[in-house]
Amino acid sequence: MNILILGGGGREHGIAWAVKQNPKCDRLIVAPGNAGIAAIAECADLDILDGAAVAEFAGEAGIDFVIVGPEAPLAAGVADRLRDAGLLVFGPSGAAARLEASKSFTKEICDAAGAPTAAWARFDDAEAARAHIRAHGAPIVVKADGLAAGKGVIVAMTEEEALAAVDDILGGAFGSAGAEVVIEEFMTGEEASYFVLCDGETVLPIGTAQDHKRVGDGDTGPNTGGMGAYSPAPVLSDAVAERALDEIVRPTVAEMARRGMPYQGVLYVGLMIENGAPRLVEYNVRFGDPECQVLMMRLGAQALDLMQAAAEGRLDKAQVNWADDHAMTVVMAAAGYPGAYEKGSTIGGLDALPEDSRRMVFHAGTAERDGQVVAAGGRVLNVTARGETLAEAREAAYAMVDAIDWPGGFCRRDIGWRAL
Ligand code: AMP
Ligand code: GLY
Repeated sequence: MNILILGGGGREHGIAWAVKQNPKCDRLIVAPGNAGIAAIAECADLDILDGAAVAEFAGEAGIDFVIVGPEAPLAAGVADRLRDAGLLVFGPSGAAARLEASKSFTKEICDAAGAPTAAWARFDDAEAARAHIRAHGAPIVVKADGLAAGKGVIVAMTEEEALAAVDDILGGAFGSAGAEVVIEEFMTGEEASYFVLCDGETVLPIGTAQDHKRVGDGDTGPNTGGMGAYSPAPVLSDAVAERALDEIVRPTVAEMARRGMPYQGVLYVGLMIENGAPRLVEYNVRFGDPECQVLMMRLGAQALDLMQAAAEGRLDKAQVNWADDHAMTVVMAAAGYPGAYEKGSTIGGLDALPEDSRRMVFHAGTAERDGQVVAAGGRVLNVTARGETLAEAREAAYAMVDAIDWPGGFCRRDIGWRAL
């Protein structure tokens, strides 16, 4: 089977690494890929937001299966273009990708499906939004309706902050993503993510994870795309996961099918859990990054069979072979991230590190220059390990971190503290 993966971050390196282990995989191309991915796959320089260009490339390369990594091509309808061209694709249609691309759409679906989530209201008028905030008080959550690269959510602890967020969003700080603002009740509890595959009808859970959004140890400092993750997430016990499936995920998937936009792909279910009761925070229509890396390490080669089963509509006959183990990934980022950071610093020591089914350094933002790996993004490496226990996985991951010679980088030293 010839496989094309769209994307070029740590998530796509994780997917490529798992797919490559499956004997079914003959040829593997990743577009655009990165320096780490180039070691295990062919990389192709493609505009992955251009569905027609991707379809043409896939046709010429004899691709049998396309896996779409990030949300942007999904929201842009690239999966639709590829399916129109007769390709087998893992990833939702542009219509179904609105579960990530529009916060108010997701809230409407939750209401129709009876899925528990924060109370909400939607505004395109600033004065009405301000009046709503004054009536409800802080803490309160203000969100740009559309895709804003993870920056469109303001958890306001004061009324002033919330009012300023409304002005920012409706004032154009997020472009068209901020044409509408969604204001939500502030939920308390512990957050965790549940990952399920869907084929339009059947839902198959493939794992739980938790990430660390703040840049600093002890969950301090500004928000990031995620500084580390581990799987499984203890707070998502079997009982809580069962409730999340029954009350949130299955009703959502049924409602999407009822509306003629069946959901196919991976659904990232962001949950807030309090007293054993899960409520939906958000959906994403892709794997989390870096959550994907720990899931792929635990799933290994079967990830390809499962994604193919989702794309072919036969998840009802698929089965996950669970390893009763743990995985952790530690993100190494360029100094300055998530603010302005330097690009181009050299990373040494990678060649000497072990790479096997239990230990792997996934590349998130790297490039090759004169035969050396250099930093080419904010989040740069995902140092990932597996163990019988979370403590064992953590020890192995940090041992690799300590063997990497990169003065221009940093990481958190406390990934997994909540679970340990
Ligand atoms: P989102 O992009 O919707 O997941 O929001 C980003 C982060 O903001 C989430 O991971 C939560 O930590 C936080 N958040 C979003 N909505 C709420 C809410 N209604 N109550 C409390 N925290 C929230
Ligand atoms: N790590 C959070 C995300 O992928 O959205």
